[in-house]
Amino acid sequence: MLNEVVSYLDCRPGNTCIDCTLGGCGHARAICEKISPGGLFIGIDQDIDAIANAEKVLQNHSAEIHLFHGNFYRLPEILEKFNIASADGILLDLGVSLHQIEDSGRGFSFMRDEPLDMRMDVRSADTAASFVNNLAQNDLAKIFKEYGEERWAGQIARNIVNIRRQTAIRTSKQLAQIVVDSIPRRAASKQKIHPATRVFMALRIAVNRELERLASFMEYAVDFLNPGGRLCVLSFHSLEDRIVKQRLKALNKGCTCPPQLPRCVCGQKPQIRILTKKVVRPTDEEIAANPMARSTRLRAAEKI
Ligand SMILES: C[S@@+](CC[C@H](N)C(=O)[O-])C[C@H]1O[C@@H](n2cnc3c(N)ncnc32)[C@H](O)[C@@H]1O
Repeated sequence: MLNEVVSYLDCRPGNTCIDCTLGGCGHARAICEKISPGGLFIGIDQDIDAIANAEKVLQNHSAEIHLFHGNFYRLPEILEKFNIASADGILLDLGVSLHQIEDSGRGFSFMRDEPLDMRMDVRSADTAASFVNNLAQNDLAKIFKEYGEERWAGQIARNIVNIRRQTAIRTSKQLAQIVVDSIPRRAASKQKIHPATRVFMALRIAVNRELERLASFMEYAVDFLNPGGRLCVLSFHSLEDRIVKQRLKALNKGCTCPPQLPRCVCGQKPQIRILTKKVVRPTDEEIAANPMARSTRLRAAEKI
Protein backbone atom coordinates (compact mmCIF):
# COMPACT_ATOMS: atom_id res chain seq x y z
CA MET A 1 0.00 0.00 0.00
CA LEU A 2 2.83 2.31 -0.97
CA ASN A 3 0.68 4.93 -2.70
CA GLU A 4 -1.88 5.10 0.09
CA VAL A 5 0.85 5.48 2.73
CA VAL A 6 2.62 8.22 0.79
CA SER A 7 -0.66 10.01 0.27
CA TYR A 8 -1.73 9.83 3.94
CA LEU A 9 1.71 10.84 5.20
CA ASP A 10 1.58 13.84 2.85
CA CYS A 11 5.33 14.55 3.24
CA ARG A 12 6.63 17.74 1.58
CA PRO A 13 10.06 19.11 0.70
CA GLY A 14 11.90 20.19 3.83
CA ASN A 15 9.82 17.96 6.17
CA THR A 16 11.21 15.74 8.92
CA CYS A 17 9.96 12.16 8.57
CA ILE A 18 10.58 8.99 10.55
CA ASP A 19 10.27 5.48 9.14
CA CYS A 20 10.28 3.27 12.24
CA THR A 21 10.39 0.01 10.25
CA LEU A 22 12.84 0.39 7.36
CA GLY A 23 12.71 -3.24 6.14
CA GLY A 24 13.60 -3.25 2.43
CA CYS A 25 13.26 0.58 2.25
CA GLY A 26 10.32 0.65 -0.21
CA HIS A 27 8.51 3.27 1.87
CA ALA A 28 11.75 4.95 2.96
CA ARG A 29 12.78 5.63 -0.63
CA ALA A 30 9.39 7.14 -1.49
CA ILE A 31 9.45 9.31 1.65
CA CYS A 32 12.99 10.56 0.97
CA GLU A 33 11.94 11.60 -2.51
CA LYS A 34 8.96 13.54 -1.14
CA ILE A 35 10.93 15.42 1.53
CA SER A 36 13.81 16.37 -0.80
CA PRO A 37 15.27 18.90 -1.07
CA GLY A 38 16.03 20.01 2.44
CA GLY A 39 14.25 17.19 4.29
CA LEU A 40 15.43 15.20 7.27
CA PHE A 41 14.83 11.45 7.39
CA ILE A 42 15.25 9.16 10.37
CA GLY A 43 15.19 5.44 9.63
CA ILE A 44 14.84 2.85 12.39
CA ASP A 45 14.91 -0.94 12.34
CA GLN A 46 15.73 -3.51 14.97
CA ASP A 47 17.23 -5.77 12.31
CA ILE A 48 20.84 -4.88 11.56
CA ASP A 49 20.42 -6.30 8.02
CA ALA A 50 17.77 -3.63 7.32
CA ILE A 51 20.14 -0.90 8.50
CA ALA A 52 22.97 -2.22 6.30
CA ASN A 53 20.58 -2.32 3.34
CA ALA A 54 19.33 1.23 4.04
CA GLU A 55 22.92 2.52 4.13
CA LYS A 56 23.29 1.36 0.53
CA VAL A 57 19.81 2.08 -0.83
CA LEU A 58 19.44 5.58 0.60
CA GLN A 59 23.00 6.80 0.08
CA ASN A 60 22.26 8.92 -3.00
CA HIS A 61 19.26 10.77 -1.62
CA SER A 62 19.58 14.46 -1.09
CA ALA A 63 17.63 14.41 2.19
CA GLU A 64 19.71 14.39 5.38
CA ILE A 65 19.56 10.79 6.59
CA HIS A 66 20.06 9.30 10.04
CA LEU A 67 19.76 5.56 10.64
CA PHE A 68 19.27 3.87 14.00
CA HIS A 69 19.58 0.18 14.80
CA GLY A 70 17.09 -0.48 17.58
CA ASN A 71 13.50 -0.88 18.62
CA PHE A 72 10.99 1.82 17.74
CA TYR A 73 9.54 1.76 21.25
CA ARG A 74 12.70 3.69 22.19
CA LEU A 75 11.63 6.60 19.95
CA PRO A 76 12.08 9.33 22.62
CA GLU A 77 15.74 8.49 23.20
CA ILE A 78 16.38 7.92 19.48
CA LEU A 79 15.11 11.43 18.67
CA GLU A 80 17.08 12.90 21.56
CA LYS A 81 20.23 11.26 20.19
CA PHE A 82 19.69 13.01 16.85
CA ASN A 83 18.62 16.25 18.55
CA ILE A 84 15.15 16.20 17.00
CA ALA A 85 12.14 17.39 18.99
CA SER A 86 9.33 16.41 16.63
CA ALA A 87 8.51 15.29 13.10
CA ASP A 88 6.00 15.90 10.31
CA GLY A 89 5.45 12.26 9.54
CA ILE A 90 5.89 8.94 11.35
CA LEU A 91 5.42 5.56 9.68
CA LEU A 92 5.11 2.11 11.17
CA ASP A 93 4.90 -0.87 8.81
CA LEU A 94 4.65 -3.78 11.22
CA GLY A 95 5.51 -7.43 10.89
CA VAL A 96 8.24 -9.26 9.11
CA SER A 97 10.16 -8.22 5.98
CA LEU A 98 10.62 -10.26 2.82
CA HIS A 99 14.35 -10.37 3.56
CA GLN A 100 13.71 -11.83 7.01
CA ILE A 101 11.48 -14.56 5.57
CA GLU A 102 13.53 -15.43 2.52
CA ASP A 103 17.18 -14.64 3.17
CA SER A 104 17.88 -14.05 6.85
CA GLY A 105 18.49 -17.73 7.70
CA ARG A 106 16.70 -17.19 11.03
CA GLY A 107 13.84 -19.65 10.68
CA PHE A 108 10.96 -17.21 10.11
CA SER A 109 9.54 -19.51 7.43
CA PHE A 110 8.23 -23.05 7.79
CA MET A 111 9.20 -23.55 4.14
CA ARG A 112 12.92 -23.51 4.94
CA ASP A 113 15.16 -25.65 7.10
CA GLU A 114 16.96 -23.09 9.21
CA PRO A 115 17.89 -22.63 12.87
CA LEU A 116 14.74 -21.80 14.84
CA ASP A 117 15.70 -18.27 15.81
CA MET A 118 13.04 -15.72 14.70
CA ARG A 119 14.69 -12.77 16.45
CA MET A 120 14.43 -9.56 14.45
CA ASP A 121 17.12 -8.11 16.71
CA VAL A 122 19.83 -10.75 17.06
CA ARG A 123 21.12 -9.04 20.22
CA SER A 124 18.02 -10.03 22.18
CA ALA A 125 18.26 -12.99 24.50
CA ASP A 126 15.46 -15.40 23.62
CA THR A 127 15.14 -17.29 20.35
CA ALA A 128 12.15 -19.25 19.13
CA ALA A 129 14.12 -22.43 19.92
CA SER A 130 14.57 -21.35 23.53
CA PHE A 131 10.82 -20.71 23.82
CA VAL A 132 9.87 -24.02 22.22
CA ASN A 133 12.37 -26.04 24.27
CA ASN A 134 11.85 -24.35 27.64
CA LEU A 135 8.39 -22.82 28.07
CA ALA A 136 5.74 -24.75 29.98
CA GLN A 137 3.17 -26.57 27.86
CA ASN A 138 0.41 -24.20 29.01
CA ASP A 139 2.43 -21.13 28.09
CA LEU A 140 3.15 -22.49 24.62
CA ALA A 141 -0.52 -23.32 24.09
CA LYS A 142 -1.46 -19.81 25.24
CA ILE A 143 0.94 -18.21 22.73
CA PHE A 144 -0.41 -20.33 19.85
CA LYS A 145 -4.02 -19.63 20.84
CA GLU A 146 -3.79 -15.91 21.63
CA TYR A 147 -1.37 -14.72 18.98
CA GLY A 148 -2.09 -17.33 16.30
CA GLU A 149 -5.75 -18.12 16.99
CA GLU A 150 -4.62 -21.71 16.45
CA ARG A 151 -7.48 -24.12 16.99
CA TRP A 152 -5.15 -27.04 17.78
CA ALA A 153 -2.94 -25.03 20.16
CA GLY A 154 -3.23 -27.48 23.08
CA GLN A 155 -2.47 -30.53 20.95
CA ILE A 156 0.51 -28.86 19.29
CA ALA A 157 1.96 -27.70 22.63
CA ARG A 158 1.52 -31.23 24.07
CA ASN A 159 3.35 -32.79 21.12
CA ILE A 160 6.17 -30.23 21.35
CA VAL A 161 6.68 -31.11 25.02
CA ASN A 162 6.63 -34.86 24.29
CA ILE A 163 9.16 -34.55 21.50
CA ARG A 164 11.56 -32.23 23.30
CA ARG A 165 11.85 -34.84 26.10
CA GLN A 166 13.64 -37.03 23.56
CA THR A 167 15.43 -34.44 21.42
CA ALA A 168 15.82 -30.66 21.32
CA ILE A 169 13.78 -28.86 18.64
CA ARG A 170 16.36 -26.82 16.76
CA THR A 171 15.10 -26.09 13.26
CA SER A 172 12.12 -24.54 11.52
CA LYS A 173 11.43 -27.74 9.57
CA GLN A 174 11.40 -29.81 12.77
CA LEU A 175 8.82 -27.51 14.31
CA ALA A 176 6.75 -27.34 11.13
CA GLN A 177 6.64 -31.16 11.01
CA ILE A 178 5.50 -31.38 14.65
CA VAL A 179 2.66 -28.95 13.86
CA VAL A 180 1.65 -30.87 10.73
CA ASP A 181 1.64 -34.13 12.73
CA SER A 182 -0.47 -32.54 15.49
CA ILE A 183 -3.38 -31.45 13.30
CA PRO A 184 -5.88 -34.07 12.12
CA ARG A 185 -5.36 -34.63 8.42
CA ARG A 186 -8.98 -33.88 7.55
CA ALA A 187 -8.86 -30.52 9.38
CA ALA A 188 -5.52 -29.60 7.77
CA SER A 189 -6.79 -30.37 4.27
CA LYS A 190 -9.66 -27.90 4.75
CA GLN A 191 -7.30 -25.02 5.59
CA LYS A 192 -6.28 -22.61 2.84
CA ILE A 193 -2.94 -21.90 4.53
CA HIS A 194 -0.05 -24.18 5.48
CA PRO A 195 -0.85 -25.87 8.83
CA ALA A 196 2.19 -24.27 10.49
CA THR A 197 1.37 -20.68 9.45
CA ARG A 198 -0.37 -19.65 12.67
CA VAL A 199 2.14 -21.27 15.02
CA PHE A 200 5.07 -19.60 13.27
CA MET A 201 3.37 -16.18 13.35
CA ALA A 202 2.45 -16.59 17.03
CA LEU A 203 5.98 -17.61 18.03
CA ARG A 204 7.49 -14.68 16.11
CA ILE A 205 5.15 -12.23 17.84
CA ALA A 206 6.07 -13.68 21.24
CA VAL A 207 9.84 -13.85 20.62
CA ASN A 208 9.96 -10.21 19.47
CA ARG A 209 7.40 -8.99 22.06
CA GLU A 210 5.71 -7.29 19.14
CA LEU A 211 2.42 -6.32 20.80
CA GLU A 212 4.06 -4.91 23.95
CA ARG A 213 6.47 -2.82 21.88
CA LEU A 214 3.65 -1.49 19.70
CA ALA A 215 1.52 -0.58 22.73
CA SER A 216 4.44 1.33 24.33
CA PHE A 217 5.15 3.17 21.09
CA MET A 218 1.50 4.14 20.60
CA GLU A 219 1.44 5.71 24.07
CA TYR A 220 3.73 8.56 23.04
CA ALA A 221 4.16 8.54 19.24
CA VAL A 222 1.78 11.47 18.73
CA ASP A 223 3.72 13.56 21.30
CA PHE A 224 6.56 13.61 18.76
CA LEU A 225 4.51 14.99 15.88
CA ASN A 226 4.34 18.65 14.91
CA PRO A 227 0.83 20.15 14.68
CA GLY A 228 -0.52 18.95 11.31
CA GLY A 229 2.02 16.07 11.38
CA ARG A 230 0.79 12.60 10.47
CA LEU A 231 1.07 9.08 11.83
CA CYS A 232 0.49 6.06 9.54
CA VAL A 233 0.40 2.49 10.79
CA LEU A 234 0.26 -0.62 8.61
CA SER A 235 -0.59 -3.73 10.58
CA PHE A 236 -1.10 -7.37 9.64
CA HIS A 237 -2.73 -8.88 12.68
CA SER A 238 -6.06 -8.11 14.32
CA LEU A 239 -4.39 -7.76 17.74
CA GLU A 240 -1.97 -5.15 16.35
CA ASP A 241 -4.78 -3.32 14.63
CA ARG A 242 -6.84 -3.28 17.83
CA ILE A 243 -3.99 -1.61 19.77
CA VAL A 244 -3.66 1.07 17.08
CA LYS A 245 -7.39 1.61 16.69
CA GLN A 246 -8.06 1.96 20.43
CA ARG A 247 -5.18 4.34 21.02
CA LEU A 248 -6.17 6.56 18.09
CA LYS A 249 -9.75 6.57 19.35
CA ALA A 250 -8.61 7.67 22.83
CA LEU A 251 -6.39 10.43 21.40
CA ASN A 252 -9.24 11.57 19.20
CA LYS A 253 -11.64 11.71 22.12
CA GLY A 254 -9.38 13.61 24.49
CA CYS A 255 -11.65 13.58 27.54
CA THR A 256 -10.93 10.74 29.97
CA CYS A 257 -13.82 11.41 32.38
CA PRO A 258 -16.01 8.41 33.33
CA PRO A 259 -19.15 8.37 31.14
CA GLN A 260 -21.45 8.74 34.18
CA LEU A 261 -20.16 12.31 34.83
CA PRO A 262 -22.62 14.88 33.43
CA ARG A 263 -19.80 17.03 32.00
CA CYS A 264 -16.07 16.94 31.42
CA VAL A 265 -13.89 17.75 34.42
CA CYS A 266 -10.55 16.46 33.09
CA GLY A 267 -10.29 19.27 30.54
CA GLN A 268 -8.34 17.08 28.09
CA LYS A 269 -8.82 18.00 24.43
CA PRO A 270 -8.64 15.76 21.33
CA GLN A 271 -5.02 15.49 20.17
CA ILE A 272 -5.60 14.02 16.73
CA ARG A 273 -7.98 13.89 13.80
CA ILE A 274 -8.48 10.38 12.44
CA LEU A 275 -7.95 10.39 8.66
CA THR A 276 -9.06 6.81 8.02
CA LYS A 277 -12.63 6.68 9.32
CA LYS A 278 -12.68 3.05 8.24
CA VAL A 279 -9.56 0.93 8.15
CA VAL A 280 -8.00 0.94 4.63
CA ARG A 281 -7.43 -2.47 3.00
CA PRO A 282 -5.42 -3.34 -0.12
CA THR A 283 -7.17 -3.45 -3.46
CA ASP A 284 -7.86 -6.76 -5.24
CA GLU A 285 -5.15 -5.91 -7.79
CA GLU A 286 -2.61 -5.39 -5.02
CA ILE A 287 -3.55 -8.69 -3.38
CA ALA A 288 -3.28 -10.46 -6.74
CA ALA A 289 0.20 -8.97 -7.27
CA ASN A 290 1.31 -9.61 -3.69
CA PRO A 291 -0.74 -12.24 -1.80
CA MET A 292 1.24 -11.45 1.40
CA ALA A 293 -0.54 -8.06 1.46
CA ARG A 294 -3.94 -9.74 1.96
CA SER A 295 -4.25 -8.98 5.67
CA THR A 296 -2.75 -5.48 5.62
CA ARG A 297 -4.69 -2.75 7.42
CA LEU A 298 -3.81 0.94 7.26
CA ARG A 299 -4.79 3.59 9.81
CA ALA A 300 -3.71 7.22 9.70
CA ALA A 301 -4.16 10.27 11.91
CA GLU A 302 -3.16 13.93 11.95
CA LYS A 303 -2.04 15.82 15.04
CA ILE A 304 -4.22 18.80 15.85
C1 LIG B 1 7.14 -5.22 6.92
S1 LIG B 1 8.82 -4.81 7.14
C2 LIG B 1 8.89 -3.14 6.60
C3 LIG B 1 8.93 -3.01 5.13
C4 LIG B 1 9.24 -1.60 4.64
N1 LIG B 1 8.19 -0.65 4.98
C5 LIG B 1 9.50 -1.57 3.15
O1 LIG B 1 8.90 -0.73 2.46
O2 LIG B 1 10.31 -2.35 2.67
C6 LIG B 1 8.96 -4.65 8.86
C7 LIG B 1 10.33 -4.25 9.38
O3 LIG B 1 10.13 -3.68 10.66
C8 LIG B 1 11.10 -4.11 11.56
N2 LIG B 1 10.51 -4.07 12.89
C9 LIG B 1 9.44 -4.76 13.33
N3 LIG B 1 9.17 -4.43 14.60
C10 LIG B 1 10.09 -3.50 14.97
C11 LIG B 1 10.33 -2.77 16.17
N4 LIG B 1 9.57 -2.93 17.26
N5 LIG B 1 11.34 -1.87 16.18
C12 LIG B 1 12.12 -1.68 15.06
N6 LIG B 1 11.94 -2.36 13.92
C13 LIG B 1 10.95 -3.25 13.87
C14 LIG B 1 11.46 -5.50 11.09
O4 LIG B 1 12.75 -5.85 11.50
C15 LIG B 1 11.31 -5.38 9.58
O5 LIG B 1 12.53 -5.08 8.98
